[in-house]
Amino acid sequence: MQLNRIEQLLKQTMGLNAASIGSSAIQRAVRERMRRTHIDDSERYRQRLETSPEEIHELIELVVIPETWFFRNWHPFQALKQHLERHWLPRHGERGLRLLSLPCSTGEEPYTLAMVLADLGLEPGRAEVHGVDISRRNIDSARLGIYRQNSFRGDHLEYRDAYFHHAEDRYHLRPDIRERVRFEQGNLLDPDFSRDRAPYDIIFCRNLLIYFDRPTQDQAVDILERLLTRDGLLFVGHAETGVLAGRGFRSLNLPQSFGFQRETLMAGEPAPSTARTRPVRRTRRTPVRPRRQPRPHWIDQKEQAVPAPPQNAADPGVEQLEQATRLADDGHLVEAAELCEQILQAQGPQAQALYLLGLIRDAAGEPEEAEQLLRQAIYLDPAHCPAMLHLALVLERRGEALAAQRMQERLERCQQREAANPT
Ligand SMILES: C[S@@+](CC[C@H](N)C(=O)[O-])C[C@H]1O[C@@H](n2cnc3c(N)ncnc32)[C@H](O)[C@@H]1O
Repeated sequence: MQLNRIEQLLKQTMGLNAASIGSSAIQRAVRERMRRTHIDDSERYRQRLETSPEEIHELIELVVIPETWFFRNWHPFQALKQHLERHWLPRHGERGLRLLSLPCSTGEEPYTLAMVLADLGLEPGRAEVHGVDISRRNIDSARLGIYRQNSFRGDHLEYRDAYFHHAEDRYHLRPDIRERVRFEQGNLLDPDFSRDRAPYDIIFCRNLLIYFDRPTQDQAVDILERLLTRDGLLFVGHAETGVLAGRGFRSLNLPQSFGFQRETLMAGEPAPSTARTRPVRRTRRTPVRPRRQPRPHWIDQKEQAVPAPPQNAADPGVEQLEQATRLADDGHLVEAAELCEQILQAQGPQAQALYLLGLIRDAAGEPEEAEQLLRQAIYLDPAHCPAMLHLALVLERRGEALAAQRMQERLERCQQREAANPT
């Protein structure tokens, strides 16, 4: 199969780094498109892709990961509400507020923003919320505003009673909230998307950068910077904070909000949060494999069977990682996760911190988040056996037997290599 060239095409078009979802997922999508287009030769299918933007789009529809839910991670929305109440609204008088959710997937994130604005008592005419996603199907579904149980997760579900009407196993969003959001199909990396677009005061770009490689992440951050007002806020996903390291952003320092603002606010300008962090340092961009990998005690017994790699105290961040591991061992998962975030923010993507954060998210009942983090850890460190083992467990629990088995086989190969070349 012409998989390499097809993976390249997907990368050029949408930025997808095949390693982030695995070549087998792309292969499955290609097979499905070949079946539906009645093309049985992969070379012919590749040619079709090269000449047909429509076919590329159909393939994109099959490789995107639409995973999302209302008030995902909760804290960013609390931070946003606080920022608007305390800083933006008093400072900007009657000026209109512009918010962007990109990628918005099936609409849960931008509608959550609309609910936050409604809770604040902001008139619909006072704020524009735009939801953008590369997938046409996601955008069509977002426009409907009808959801299943799976879009509501976690403990804080009061908003569901307030803003949805339940009928025949579906939750229908109230029209006044639906009308606050304007949806549009768009590709962040397409120059036409950002050209001549007025900047946004708030951008939610969560769980997109994890699917890009480092150069594409940098390109995406350049675009997001251009799309953000001078004192705007940028929210990214928890595994993505490291991408902003050294890019002139500072954290809002509100726990687990993963919100950022430019470092270069003018002197005397009030910061959006009371707490100020030290500037993010640009450190190494190339990910390193920490040789010492502290292991939490609270992970599955099965996993304990994997030998820990040898230790080397000279590696950067090791002390902080050890501290995060100790915190996790003692059951302080929130603090441990925060420390991992700080490490990622200060040092950029780092396999061991992502791995530990993946374990914490899994322990906190967030297996999808855990999976993304563990995949990233393995991408950065293809010999990270503990991450492979835990990912295999996550996949197995989710009933993805084949994917779990493949990961287990990869782990075994990795262990054999380690046994043959002990360091
Ligand atoms: C995991 S969802 C994230 C949704 C939401 N931001 C969240 O965090 O819950 C990822 C979405 O990114 C979209 N996507 C992938 N590449 C994109 C691109 N280059 N431009 C815009 N959207 C993209 C996919 O269609 C998918 O819906």
